[in-house]
Amino acid sequence: MGKRIERVAVPSVIFVIFGGAGDLTWRKLIPSLFDLYRDGRMPAQFAIVAVDRIPMRDEALHKRLLDGVKKFARKRKLKSADWNHFARHISYQQADFKDPATYSTLATRCAQLEKDWRVKASRIFHLATPPEMLAVIPELLAAAGLNKDRARARIVVEKPIGHDLDSARELNRTLTKSFHESQIFRIDHYLGKETVQNILAFRFANPLFEPIWNRRYVERVTITVAETVGVGHRGSYYEHAGALRDMMQNHLMQLLCLVAMEPMASFEADELRDKKLDVLHAVRRISRSAVHRYAVRGQYGKGMVAGKKVRGYRREDNIAPHSKTETFAALNLFVDNWRWAGVPFYLITGKSLPEQISEIAIQFRNVPHQIFPREATRDWHPSRLVMSIQPEEAIVLGFQAKFPGPKMELRPVEMHFNYRESFSVPSPDAYETLLWDVMNNDPTLFMRADQVEAAWQLLMPIIDQWEKSPARDFPDYAAGSWGPKAAMKFFGCEDQKRNRSNEKKSSTRFGSNQSCFPIRRGQHVAR
Ligand code: BG6
Repeated sequence: MGKRIERVAVPSVIFVIFGGAGDLTWRKLIPSLFDLYRDGRMPAQFAIVAVDRIPMRDEALHKRLLDGVKKFARKRKLKSADWNHFARHISYQQADFKDPATYSTLATRCAQLEKDWRVKASRIFHLATPPEMLAVIPELLAAAGLNKDRARARIVVEKPIGHDLDSARELNRTLTKSFHESQIFRIDHYLGKETVQNILAFRFANPLFEPIWNRRYVERVTITVAETVGVGHRGSYYEHAGALRDMMQNHLMQLLCLVAMEPMASFEADELRDKKLDVLHAVRRISRSAVHRYAVRGQYGKGMVAGKKVRGYRREDNIAPHSKTETFAALNLFVDNWRWAGVPFYLITGKSLPEQISEIAIQFRNVPHQIFPREATRDWHPSRLVMSIQPEEAIVLGFQAKFPGPKMELRPVEMHFNYRESFSVPSPDAYETLLWDVMNNDPTLFMRADQVEAAWQLLMPIIDQWEKSPARDFPDYAAGSWGPKAAMKFFGCEDQKRNRSNEKKSSTRFGSNQSCFPIRRGQHVAR
């Protein structure tokens, strides 16, 4: 990743997508590959082979993929000549994923392409399939010899990597039986987001912040991934996953690692991944009997989101009428090492919340001694840094400043960095970055087996405890609210009721208490 160049560094790539007629291919993979192509970043020679079960001709596939490109590509304006050129590289192979003949046909096809190109190509096998296929496809690829060239053959797998620790271990065993770890690219799309990568840039390219990035100056860290969407059409998957498995085990854990990790010695992929793993190893284990103290769950009922009536989770498609699946989860973790001892890390995620916000808030400690008179500090907020991942791509530092006037009066103000204002180029979609990295054989932004397992290990007591004692009060938050009441206490928002009367109507969350979530932009601005 350190050595970014425009075009993929290899001359030729064969990109095989299992699940080539599916949703991920339509929504993410092809629009991202097409954007790379339009930016001149694809290799000189490439072929995309979409493999799937349903009968379909190339033309029909192209039509469907074009529809996806029009909806989801970064640059919506499309020149048909560009698409027609690109589409010539895409072919369809109708096949049964479980039939060895599928793989011998693929092997022949790859060999023929390489013969035509007169060069050995990188072969990328992307599994955009239902999770159960992860146990089948790698072995059959290996049986056909498609795993052999360690430098050129790669397999890409999507989350979920397992359903719990045991199944994740089993899956990793299956994968590593057929492919070497260095050939396996496990996608967590959060790692491909520009703002997430920028956490590293911010922390390690600016010596200013490193000396205060520790328990001495930081009071608490809050990582919030709030979504306005419900489960939509993904009910049958989500019902067996829930917020812990769907978001916490992967996206939020990755953010925690990037915020809490030690500086790397170099920008090597394994150096970064080792440092992230160290964080997970340092996180204090939560025993099952203590789960109620460190974890909160919730499930949305009917309500209003963005002015629209929304049905409750239990009324969504493919959801059990008495479902116990959590759609909201919050954890209070501690990273037990010299840097972070005693600093609470709050990780919060939920669906059908009032705003879409992904952000990391670093709340700094208060001044050790207050020198200003009481009247000067009525609007007092200790300094805070908010790294906003989406929808706003920004970093905001809130601090106190003197309000203009003859008296000494202090007000909170903000310093802003905003991607759109500072850089004239649009941020690529996470998949563009990740697919480009796979083609370049750069695993920096991908999850290693040990990291996936360490994240599961951390969550297992909570998963087990929640399964053993299903919630009795679900649904316990209205769609469009900031989660269950239990979460208020958890974040130290007990004074919410008291504060409510003072709040402006537009206020979005539990109250004006500093420890509540999420940290609203503008909260620091003097009004
Ligand atoms: C996916 C989850 O991994 O991430 C979804 O399965 C979630 O439930 C999505 O909505 C969020 O991703 P993003 O990029 O929209 O924040």
